[in-house]
Amino acid sequence: MKQRPWVMIAGTGHAVPKRVLRNEEFAAMGIDTSDEWIRERTGIRERHIAGPGESLTSLSAEAAHKAMAVAGVTAAELDMIIVGTCSPDRLLPSAAVELQAALGATRAVAFDVDAACSGWLYGMQVAEAMMAAGNAETILVVGAELLSRIVNWKDRNTCVLFGDGAGACVLTRSTKQRGILSCYMRSDGTLANLLHRPKGGAAEPMTAEILAEGSHFVHMKGREVFKNAVRSMSDACDRALDGAKLSSSDIDLLIPHQANLRIIEATAKHANVPREKVFVNVDRYGNTSAASIPIALDEAIAQGRVKDGTIVMFVAFGAGFTWGSMVVRF
Ligand code: UT7
Repeated sequence: MKQRPWVMIAGTGHAVPKRVLRNEEFAAMGIDTSDEWIRERTGIRERHIAGPGESLTSLSAEAAHKAMAVAGVTAAELDMIIVGTCSPDRLLPSAAVELQAALGATRAVAFDVDAACSGWLYGMQVAEAMMAAGNAETILVVGAELLSRIVNWKDRNTCVLFGDGAGACVLTRSTKQRGILSCYMRSDGTLANLLHRPKGGAAEPMTAEILAEGSHFVHMKGREVFKNAVRSMSDACDRALDGAKLSSSDIDLLIPHQANLRIIEATAKHANVPREKVFVNVDRYGNTSAASIPIALDEAIAQGRVKDGTIVMFVAFGAGFTWGSMVVRF
């Protein structure tokens, strides 16, 4: 019998920039790549890229408004706003307080969770714990990224992979026996240098030299990250199932972090979840980091793939390394 209060996802929403950048367009931008290479190695065909009038706050607010409308919750009713992001509009203050101001959520306590691609999933687990502790009744959890603003558009190892977007969920208590069944989180900071922004932070503040060499942009050792992602996400699926006392055949839908189709397929194979029960949209959005799972969840609901009683497993992996998983009964 579940000891903690039932915390459910009462509404979801997402927003992406208008501009779609297709694989075929990179060549004209002077990047030595091809649609064939990107599709075969990653499954990505296109991604959305923010324009001058779009910001992390504007996309987050659009996603949040949709989620709140579905949940029937007003901004004034939010007790807490948690934003998972590694690409905030400003380095100080947090993206969450900017979103709070944009929504007019005057009562809410607002803060960010910086766990890169695992940011939304970490935020969900912090929110569940806050509700279990009696600190909040209604929480908005957003995963949002403008990675196009922090990647090096001359580095083909990274710039073809990422996209921009925001996904939002409203969490409330449930009186029925549905909601979060299990949570799992892990980190390993010894591997931080495999995926990071080497300079431009407080340790080595921005200089003309850092700017010229581009060491403030995202740098990634893709092959090593790939191996760690498959290993960690596979293990996280096992842990979430154990925690929920379920087996893989109980899972109706697996929504993994959308970084690479090959990582998704390897994780699903390990978890013993057949392809038709795995949600994939990496082809249309690329890797939107912390936004990827909540965008995918919102699309899955819109497509009728999540209904009352559906059991969904989320699994994420990102820079840090950070990873985790969650099983939810809708
Ligand atoms: O969100 C969580 C964090 N991120 C991830 O999970 C991403 C994890 N990594 C990956 O998805 C894959 O490792 C990549 C898609 C980044 C790369 O795929 P790969 O099969 O691991 O390729 P690779 O890194 O082994 O590179 C193969 C070759 C290299 O050339 P050489 O050294 O073999 O001559 C690269 O220089 O492909 C080259 N390459 C490219 N070629 C065309 C790298 N990027 C590109 C590109 N277009 N965009």
